[in-house]
Amino acid sequence: MIKFILNNQTIETALPTGTTVLDFVRYRKNLKGTKIGCREGDCGACTVLVGELHDGRVKYRSQTSCLMPLANAAGKHIVTVEGVNPADGELTPVQSALVDESGTQCGFCTVGFVMSLTGFCLDDAPKSKAAAVSAIDGNICRCTGYKSIERAAARLCDTGEMEGEEEKRRRGEEEILKRAIETGIVPAYFAAIKERLASIGAESSNRASAVDNPKSEIRNPKSFVSGGTDLYVQRPEEMAEMAAENLFDRADLRLIEEAGEMVEVGAAVVVTDLMESDVFQRIFPDLYRHLKLVSSTPIRNMATLAGNFVNASPIGDMTAWFLALDAEIELVDADDSARALALRDFYRGYKQLAKKPEEYIRKISFRKDFTHFNFEKVCKRTYLDIASVNSAIGLKVAGNTIERAHAAVGGVFATPLYLRKTSEFLRGREITEEIVSEAAEILQTEIAPISDVRGTAEYKRLLARQLFTAHFAELFGV
Ligand SMILES: Cc1cc2nc3c(=O)[nH]c(=O)nc-3n(C[C@H](O)[C@H](O)[C@H](O)COP(=O)(O)OP(=O)(O)OC[C@H]3O[C@@H](n4cnc5c(N)ncnc54)[C@H](O)[C@@H]3O)c2cc1C
Ligand code: FES
Ligand code: FES
Repeated sequence: MIKFILNNQTIETALPTGTTVLDFVRYRKNLKGTKIGCREGDCGACTVLVGELHDGRVKYRSQTSCLMPLANAAGKHIVTVEGVNPADGELTPVQSALVDESGTQCGFCTVGFVMSLTGFCLDDAPKSKAAAVSAIDGNICRCTGYKSIERAAARLCDTGEMEGEEEKRRRGEEEILKRAIETGIVPAYFAAIKERLASIGAESSNRASAVDNPKSEIRNPKSFVSGGTDLYVQRPEEMAEMAAENLFDRADLRLIEEAGEMVEVGAAVVVTDLMESDVFQRIFPDLYRHLKLVSSTPIRNMATLAGNFVNASPIGDMTAWFLALDAEIELVDADDSARALALRDFYRGYKQLAKKPEEYIRKISFRKDFTHFNFEKVCKRTYLDIASVNSAIGLKVAGNTIERAHAAVGGVFATPLYLRKTSEFLRGREITEEIVSEAAEILQTEIAPISDVRGTAEYKRLLARQLFTAHFAELFGV
């Protein structure tokens, strides 16, 4: 049984917890405003807001309900468009902006845009046109054209709704919510959500840790689900019926902490958590620009690090990133015993992992004393696309000498690839054009790309070289 708030209604349901939130709101609650497009997290037609009690406040993030299991709604506030529509039949300022700027035609995508932009207005991040447009990077419109939608998004920054944003930031989240209610961005019932979430035990056992599925005929208690953004694309029917252990909301898996010379990151930390983390912002100067290359806002709000590692896609962006930090993962067995393993030793072959099925990843740790880090990714389009080839590098440099080097590349091997020989070669070398060229030659001996829809083997070889040298051009101008 899980309990959550859907718009203004408290829900208690014994439905299979693998049911998607999309199916629940449309077919169980007859809330048809949330649309079904791709069911793969790509189009944004199914976007809902998910409010979560965190540090004594409710934080709203957009998520694609087609990939979200009901288990991940436990203890949260799920908001569909029906939950923001004003009772008097008028439009919210977000809806008005889209109408006034001609940002809607057939309307199929519009609800998704409304939800993403409403989430943007509730967010405590600084407001700018770029940030507003970024908030809708997971929403696709097939008929209107994006300029009118972007104008609508920009209007939300320069009208009264967002006035004095910096000051509001200082005054805190409560003030942002108060103002959002005053200006009609969300209805008045939002004011009581914090207390209501607290009373349904949002931060306690209601968070489904073991996902029971009473009707399930598929029993595999050692299947793990986190954000669901890979699993619900790969096998949606099976997931809807399957019993699994849900890790997304385990508080001990959501921490980002400095521990001496190490940084420890919980396995269920999502990409957005990294973007918003003070620790990460401090040690990765280009954090936002780099992570903006990973999927879209709603997917970044759901995509966990462990999910990326275990999915073992050769082009997993966060996997390349953490390989270049020479990260270590902590694996926990069924009897709760734990062991540490270098991430680079986790991959044995295509989708073959050095892990028992019953082991899960609890945390990831890496040394923070690198001096330079860079991430590069080439896709068919810049944003909301998976990589043809990606690459990351972490270096500790003293003077002009490389003391420590860890380089990774994705899309050119059966697994995400830690470049052992290339990294080893770089250690103790001066940073010169010749050394970089020599290292790039060694890299070529470590990769084995294949031709597929993302490019020919030759093209990927070229990309691997270019991205590797781009790290040095970007970081050192060589
Ligand atoms: C539209 C879209 C765009 C995407 N874009 C990108 C992109 O640009 N770059 C990219 O790298 N990826 C991308 N992805 C893939 C996906 O979002 C990531 O791989 C994500 O990090 C997976 O995390 P998750 O929590 O959703 O995994 P889930 O789907 O919940 O799980 C994936 C696998 O990991 C296992 N698992 C999850 N957590 C644990 C744990 N703690 N311990 C052990 N096993 C665990 C699950 O059992 C499953 O096998 C995209 C996906 C979508 C739908
Ligand atoms: S239906 Fe397309 S993202 Fe969910
Ligand atoms: S208005 Fe028709 S798809 Fe966007």
